[in-house]
Amino acid sequence: MDLGLRGKTAIVTGGSRGIGSYVARALAAEGCRVAICARGEEQLAATAAALEAEGAEVLAMPLDVTEPGSAARLVAATVERFGGVDVLVNNVGGNKRGAFAELTDGDWEAVLDLNFKSHQRMSREVIPAMRAAGGGVILFVASIFGREAGGRGLAIYNTTKSALISMAKIMALELAGDGIRVLSIAPGSIRFPGGSWDRRCLDDPEGMAEFIRENLPLGRFGTAEEIADVVAFLVSDRASLVTGACINVDGGQSRSLI
Ligand SMILES: NC(=O)c1ccc[n+]([C@@H]2O[C@H](COP(=O)([O-])OP(=O)(O)OC[C@H]3O[C@@H](n4cnc5c(N)ncnc54)[C@H](OP(=O)(O)O)[C@@H]3O)[C@@H](O)[C@H]2O)c1
Repeated sequence: MDLGLRGKTAIVTGGSRGIGSYVARALAAEGCRVAICARGEEQLAATAAALEAEGAEVLAMPLDVTEPGSAARLVAATVERFGGVDVLVNNVGGNKRGAFAELTDGDWEAVLDLNFKSHQRMSREVIPAMRAAGGGVILFVASIFGREAGGRGLAIYNTTKSALISMAKIMALELAGDGIRVLSIAPGSIRFPGGSWDRRCLDDPEGMAEFIRENLPLGRFGTAEEIADVVAFLVSDRASLVTGACINVDGGQSRSLI
């Protein structure tokens, strides 16, 4: 299937490693020019070099998405370098585990900034460029724990991921007339080298074998390539009827019916 992404420009936040780097690679393989950002310059440069070695046009900007001016800088640099922005993948995210009663204002502010406000700012910044081009796609990487309760200790993570899904739906309503689709994906547990699930599997193979038996119907973790392939489809015109939705990419892991 030709996704029709050749010549489009995509921004992927947190594209230096993990799911974001696989998304950037999948979009580049479809012919997109990609702009990626992360705080760690060395890893960002290495990922950009690897993408370029595969023939991609890449803009790699070291920045912290939680700094208010960073979204404007990344979008402006992307427009200057590639002439516009067709796709934004808001991927950056993290977690702060803790019992609700113990979590501080600082804990909440840090993860709200990272998981929610950075995406809200980045999305607002790309709208003028997308409107000027007659359309675009904004995709949020949420989680199955934005659609259902993740469990004790996950108040901040669950809240921020639910907020992304909610914001995407309202944005989709408001931006449909501009030809801008807005959607989110809800990954389940995704294992890739160096990622959090990989570390847990290496530290506690027996515990993780039990986790897989109890929680993962396919009998395995998802891969970052499987997330990236779904993202590539969803941001392409082949998914032109998909807007406002949150798509599970979880191997049946989530328990919610909605
Ligand atoms: N892995 C899973 O099983 C899973 C499941 C469901 C949902 N998700 C979601 O998928 C997304 C990606 O997860 P992941 O596991 O791939 O994460 P990851 O391996 O920790 O990678 C995060 C990426 O974001 C960058 N980043 C982190 N903080 C940043 C900041 N303040 N400014 C700019 N860049 C920043 C990192 O680079 P630097 O550290 O150098 O900045 C890195 O490139 C997250 O939203 C996560 O919640 C993951």
